[in-house]
Amino acid sequence: MSPKKMQSGKMQTARDGAAPAGAPITALREKDLLTIETLTVSEIDLILKTAESMKEILNRPVPKVPALLDKTVVLLFYEPSTRTRASFEMAAKALSANVTTLQAQGSSAQKGESLKDAAKTIEAIGASAIVIRHGAAGAPDLVARNVKGSVINAGDGAHAHPTQALLDLLTIRERKGSVQGLKVAIVGDIAHSRVARSNIWGLTKMGAEVTLVAPKPFLPMGIETLPVQISHHLDEVLPEVDVLYLLRIQLERGAGSWLPSLEEYVRFYGITVPRMKKAKKDVMVMHPGPINRGVEIEAAVADGPYTVILDQVQNGVATRMAALFLLLGGEKSPEGGLL
Ligand code: CP
Repeated sequence: MSPKKMQSGKMQTARDGAAPAGAPITALREKDLLTIETLTVSEIDLILKTAESMKEILNRPVPKVPALLDKTVVLLFYEPSTRTRASFEMAAKALSANVTTLQAQGSSAQKGESLKDAAKTIEAIGASAIVIRHGAAGAPDLVARNVKGSVINAGDGAHAHPTQALLDLLTIRERKGSVQGLKVAIVGDIAHSRVARSNIWGLTKMGAEVTLVAPKPFLPMGIETLPVQISHHLDEVLPEVDVLYLLRIQLERGAGSWLPSLEEYVRFYGITVPRMKKAKKDVMVMHPGPINRGVEIEAAVADGPYTVILDQVQNGVATRMAALFLLLGGEKSPEGGLL
């Protein structure tokens, strides 16, 4: 796909090269969920529709179904997580799967075991699926190539976080009805953000126009290959956007040293109550979490009426149920009787 800003200012989107929407499907093509980039529009649609069915299950008095009673899901988390790990665990349990969680600390990774050997070992013990978070981009792909079961990428380095983007799409669709035609600004430390990369693909495939808003050091290399527009001026972009997607500065990936002044960053890119007065009345403020209050978002905005941050977290369970169900439950749709 060729990039980006066309002469008219109209965006060419990833959707232009993707499968047409509306071709209903009942199964994903691959055994794994590693990136959004490789999903078709129909596959994204299937996951979102399945997640909507999962939300209905989660609202029942007994929020549990026997869909994956015979499956074992292993969560392999080599990096810290609150939201993703907890929601995958809850998702697997709501589908009646057995769940085991392993962290690098306390596992044989500390004794020098390779990721490939760890994955093969976990599969030999009986895992039907491995959900992996790792600091190295490509780690989930390595695992997927070395096991027969399904692998879900729960975040790898600065590369991808597909279930985050899917739960974000679900949240936007619920609030706005459709993603098609929406203007979305992704603001902050994009260079280090796997969430930004997955959302760029997810949003543009589903027909949104995406603008990345950041100071130069926070824009990724190779940005010219992405189907997005670029701005360094949040105050110019803000009045136009339907969705404001904020990112934290990823200090654990060394981002702190990329900025001459945090104070200056907050002044130009921090979302404050006065700055929100320039935004549309119905703008959605999103953030994958964890948030850094007083940096990318002022506390009063984080806790205010624009934000859907907790809706995103809540949708994480249903979205991850959908991913596990579709990868492990075979071709049957929720309407197909399995649930
Ligand atoms: N959004 C997200 O991935 O959060 P966690 O790091 O808490 O899982």
